[in-house]
Amino acid sequence: MNSTRESWASKLGFMLAAMGSAVGLGNIWRFSYVAGENGGGAFLILYLASIVIIGIPLLLAEVSIGRKAKSDVVGSYRTLAPRKPWYLAGFLGVFGALLILGFYSVVAGWSMYYFWNYLTGQFFTVPEQGYGAAFEMFTSSTAQPLLWHAIFMVLTIAIVLTGIKKGIELANKIFMPALAVLLIILAGFSLSLDGAMEGMRFLFQPDWSVLSDPSVYIAALGQAFFSLSLGVGVMMTYGSYLGDHHKLPGATVGIGLMDTFFAVISGVVIFPAVFAFGIEPDSGPVLVFITLPDIFSQIPFGGIVGILFFLSLTLAAVSSSVSLLEVPVAFLMRSFKWSRKLAAIITGIVIFVLGIGASLGMGAWSGFTPIGQLNIMDSMDYVASNIFLPIGGLVMAMFIGWYFNKMDALTAADLQHATVGHWWYVIVKYFAPVIILLIFLNALGVL
Ligand code: PHE
Repeated sequence: MNSTRESWASKLGFMLAAMGSAVGLGNIWRFSYVAGENGGGAFLILYLASIVIIGIPLLLAEVSIGRKAKSDVVGSYRTLAPRKPWYLAGFLGVFGALLILGFYSVVAGWSMYYFWNYLTGQFFTVPEQGYGAAFEMFTSSTAQPLLWHAIFMVLTIAIVLTGIKKGIELANKIFMPALAVLLIILAGFSLSLDGAMEGMRFLFQPDWSVLSDPSVYIAALGQAFFSLSLGVGVMMTYGSYLGDHHKLPGATVGIGLMDTFFAVISGVVIFPAVFAFGIEPDSGPVLVFITLPDIFSQIPFGGIVGILFFLSLTLAAVSSSVSLLEVPVAFLMRSFKWSRKLAAIITGIVIFVLGIGASLGMGAWSGFTPIGQLNIMDSMDYVASNIFLPIGGLVMAMFIGWYFNKMDALTAADLQHATVGHWWYVIVKYFAPVIILLIFLNALGVL
């Protein structure tokens, strides 16, 4: 039955695609603004803890389910647990992927806009009103951001259309290392700025008082899930294209480490500069877009660096958006026997429409705040990242921990012969679900 399903050319292909999915705007754009809004150091510690003790073990759980079932996020639950309600979590994943890509594509569009402005030399010199105000003007306008959002979606759809093997692997082989090198160079520069130490203290010296705020825990957990592409079924779907003879534990630890490296190094680029240039660390989603150009305007060949940086960032975003689109596409192809082409185009259009809301919420529709004070984009992000992803991960953990027996769980994850297997199982079965529930209850004010 599965003989016609696509598969990765090699384990390296899977690794590159999964890392490409994990590393993206989440590491640079989202990590820095969420860390900035949540007090820096203490947030960083909670974030790292979430990655190590919940994120990586659940990443292994998610990939294991997909590889065992060889199906999309809904189909995997259906295959392994026929006539049981687990598959409902799969729909949450499909829906979450649509929601995330809706706003992700808008932000990726901003990155493309910056790339274009560096390429044409427009941003080589500081605009009259400063980069911050120029950016606000751009994001609050109607047509331009939507145009870039559309271009980015077309690019994503085009790659998903060509199937899983080509395209992404190549982009990741060249541009992920390029992004890493650029970030390391930029970190060196940021650290040399006057006032850099204040930024380093902000990022690395925990101010424990922020821990009395329950929303910091949710933010750290949500950021860990978002950054690892965990909980929507991306890793389940990617795992489903993987043959049984490839070993999973090392791969998932590698993905987690790589992803964390990109986040921390971005912090070292951004925060010293934030303090040196007198930008507010809690400026929100605009943070990197107003900080980076200030950095580039001060370094030798900054314009060229700007071109390379935003090109790499955009491509890192593409490999993540491709993985998000693959979730609903794989689901539709199997459920409704749609062709890859039809599924990618229809889903792409739906996502484009969702993104219109996110984009206009920055300007024309900024008065509309679906959740508290949050505009449309932030509300979409909040619901998807802080609620859907952790619930998705919680269900995956429970599925492995409580629906599988221990031997099946360990075998699915290639841990049957490893001593860490026992610990992984305890985390997945008890620890992770309890922590996730506690963080939720805490945020609801129940505790
Ligand atoms: N992990 C991606 C990033 O950091 C975003 C993403 C989230 C991708 C969820 C897939 C699923 O940019």
